[in-house]
Amino acid sequence: MTTSAASYATEQEDAEPTPAARSAGYIEFVNVKKVYRMGEQEIEALAGVNFSIDEGQLVIIAGASGAGKSTLLNILGGMDTLSSGSVFLDGAELSGFDQKQMIKYRRFDVGFVFQFYNLIPNLTARENVELASQVGLDPLDVDEVLASVGLAERAGNFPSQLSGGEQQRVAIARALAKNPKLLLCDEPTGALDYATGRSILKLLQDMCRERGITVVVITHNLALMPMGDKVIKLKSGLVEQVQINESPLSVEDLEW
Ligand SMILES: Nc1ncnc2c1ncn2[C@@H]1O[C@H](COP(=O)(O)OP(=O)(O)O)[C@@H](O)[C@H]1O
Ligand SMILES: [Mg+2]
Repeated sequence: MTTSAASYATEQEDAEPTPAARSAGYIEFVNVKKVYRMGEQEIEALAGVNFSIDEGQLVIIAGASGAGKSTLLNILGGMDTLSSGSVFLDGAELSGFDQKQMIKYRRFDVGFVFQFYNLIPNLTARENVELASQVGLDPLDVDEVLASVGLAERAGNFPSQLSGGEQQRVAIARALAKNPKLLLCDEPTGALDYATGRSILKLLQDMCRERGITVVVITHNLALMPMGDKVIKLKSGLVEQVQINESPLSVEDLEW
């Protein structure tokens, strides 16, 4: 059994064919709008966003606070719905998924990393990773993943016994353990000091290069732009600029 888009598509055989035979990217946002209603007030978090991402790319989403970055990532991760427009992933229309498909998608295909790690405090590092690997269809070996993020020696520690950087490594291991197609990171270094943040970004870059996994990283630090294959700059809910780096820099060569 695979969790490719084809497996979602087959569940919809009787439904209208999606306009999915698009030649564009692996991920595609087409005129995506998101309006939040708060009482009488309407907040347009995304005002018609268009971009594409290729499989295996490392993509930086940049922009000021309130620009719509988290909204965009949450939609891509199946945690929020859009108000209008379409999102395509690997030929399937994500924005047309029913609840069951969405649950499968979140469970099997998406790894999420948050600013404040969100580990379960009464589980060890290993148990946090194990929990995620148990919901995967084709999970990676828990100890191998922990070793790959440099935590083989700390597997038995609880989150409170780990530094911020180490906790974020556990969170990355947890996201990777289910062997997702997509790794989505919302300000993963936002709570870390400079050196620790660098090492986390290096880890994300390595995971993208070594595993061929598509990685999307949100930051408001424009100095990180050169590390991405693609940089999507958001401003007030719109794509202000898309920059393609033919030769992205290694994190080690970045200073900020
Ligand atoms: N659940 C929500 N309800 C109401 N407004 C929201 C919600 N989530 C985000 N917003 C608003 O949408 C805009 C974009 O937010 P967000 O995507 O979190 O921006 P960023 O991550 O770039 O800082 C902001 O004005 C924010 O206040
Ligand atoms: Mg945000």
